[in-house]
Amino acid sequence: MTGTAAARAGRAAGESPRLRPVPRPEERKAERLPTRAKGATEAKPPAGGEKPKGLPAGAEGRGAPAEPKAAAAPATVTAEYLATRQREISVAEFFQKNRHLLGFDNPRKALLTAVKEAVDNSLDACEEARILPEVTIEVKPTKFEDRFCIAVEDNGPGIVPEQIPKIFGSLLYGSKFHRLKMSRGQQGIGISAAGMYGQLTTGKPVCITSRTGPSKPATYIELQINTTKNEAMVLRHETRDWKVERGTRVEMEIEARYQKGRQSIDEYLEQTAIANPHARLVYTTPEGERRVFERAVDSLPPEPREIRPHPHGVELGMLIKMLKDSKERTLAGFLHGSFCRVSTAVAGEIAKKAGLDPKARPARLSPEDVEKLYSAINTTKLMSPPTDCLSPIGEEQLEAGLKKEIPADFYTAVTRKPAVYRGNPFLVEAAIAWGGTQDAEGLVRLLRFANRVPLLYQQSACAIYDGVVDTQWRNYNVQQAKGALPTGPMTILVHFASVWVPFTSESKEAIADYPEITREIKLALQECGRRLSQHLSRRRRIADAERKKSYIEKYIPHIGIGLREILGLSAAQEARLVGKLKGLLERGPAKSAPDTPEGS
Ligand SMILES: Nc1ncnc2c1ncn2[C@@H]1O[C@H](COP(=O)(O)OP(=O)(O)O)[C@@H](O)[C@H]1O
Ligand SMILES: [Mg+2]
Repeated sequence: MTGTAAARAGRAAGESPRLRPVPRPEERKAERLPTRAKGATEAKPPAGGEKPKGLPAGAEGRGAPAEPKAAAAPATVTAEYLATRQREISVAEFFQKNRHLLGFDNPRKALLTAVKEAVDNSLDACEEARILPEVTIEVKPTKFEDRFCIAVEDNGPGIVPEQIPKIFGSLLYGSKFHRLKMSRGQQGIGISAAGMYGQLTTGKPVCITSRTGPSKPATYIELQINTTKNEAMVLRHETRDWKVERGTRVEMEIEARYQKGRQSIDEYLEQTAIANPHARLVYTTPEGERRVFERAVDSLPPEPREIRPHPHGVELGMLIKMLKDSKERTLAGFLHGSFCRVSTAVAGEIAKKAGLDPKARPARLSPEDVEKLYSAINTTKLMSPPTDCLSPIGEEQLEAGLKKEIPADFYTAVTRKPAVYRGNPFLVEAAIAWGGTQDAEGLVRLLRFANRVPLLYQQSACAIYDGVVDTQWRNYNVQQAKGALPTGPMTILVHFASVWVPFTSESKEAIADYPEITREIKLALQECGRRLSQHLSRRRRIADAERKKSYIEKYIPHIGIGLREILGLSAAQEARLVGKLKGLLERGPAKSAPDTPEGS
């Protein structure tokens, strides 16, 4: 945390950075709250150790329930005393304190995360509404050096006015969590978290303009998050004229640091353009420079289909909950209706195997019955989940995307067949670009994507990295130190697509290394490696032949002189002989014995 705003705030408050023995709770309390010890309402701890700057009066927790009074700590802590301290934690409060879990751990990363969340949402919304995405991104400086205004605008379907406060004003609210469909967002946490970070660091509200069609007016809303209630506080709500016929614009001011290079917005957009050749992105940098990423294809990727969960991927606890919540009247109906790949016949077979009546009421099954059902499900052979729910980028598009952004000598791409982890279908694509002006001495550049979103942080904690490191690149004539990425003038791209991406954290930076996933990644890379090795051997053969040719070429005149002297040839004969030898060399390896010199 060194250098972060939170750490700075901590130090500014006079905290010693050195470690000290941990004081007992009552000592700690006495130390921090000398004037409030006598039953006063305890102030909410500042989030992340930071003081919210410039929040409107009463913005934090306006209308919040009164906090329980904290009793003075007794000499011995009792359950009753603890009870006075125990209270619910709202999800917004939790993530306000733990904003690093969402990718807001330092100002540079925060800028990228905020832009990424908005752009990912725009691309998701456009694709769902089958609209070719056109997204503009503006990052504008403010009068404060460490604050920037971000505006992301799309031509998507827009958001109905009643939903705007819920989407932008509460964490864990979204349309993608309760379904199994390939999309960029899934947790319902992204954009509201970005707004909350802005509110926390600059005190400014999030401003949303959205319009759902030319016949409707645009809605403009300014809001902040009441973190205690995880609810929006709408500061302004009005209808407005907007030149845009349909779409959404999100604006916010956040504490941030702008820097180009690795892990920057520039890199994120470049990689987004590679994996989304159907999107047009227009980016205006804080310096006012305009970068346009034109679309390379004019058609949307095929629409991924939503699927029901596969029975083999459902855990016992989940099955219990599903049975309790089910509105189906019979067990067979429940199995058939809740899962994919369970026909009515298969549902009957499962019930029979579990020794249960297919007509039993799902919500009334006893815990023992559910256990039997669970084991029957897992011992019944079922078809793998359907795989048309995945929308790969495609080999051609991947190569085209790489060619557009990375000049190289050789490109290849592989799209694997879908596979399954924990009942979730997934698919891996890999591509490589070799040679050109890429650095030949350093480690290769690795581009990771999950559902078309570039992953720029936590590289070495990701299954994709493990897959690359575990591949034996030396088998393909590429240098590699043990346990490291290979070395050479190469970019490796890996795309993981699934109805549910198993991210290692809420900030969606790395993919968990399920063995099924790492296996697929390695298989895709091995195929790319084989093709690269063929290319390299071909190139080496050609280079060897060229080298030999140039040697021989150098000696041909000397051979002519030698033969003239040995055989007593005339100058014309020597010239003819030299010409013939050169012709032979040009034609490549001789198929028959070389001609004997004339006149011998
Ligand atoms: N630009 C947008 N256009 C249309 N709908 C949007 C847009 N941004 C967000 N949404 C809606 O808001 C929801 C919440 O967004 P978010 O907090 O980023 O979570 P997630 O993307 O993980 O679902 C999305 O599921 C989507 O339904
Ligand atoms: Mg999102």
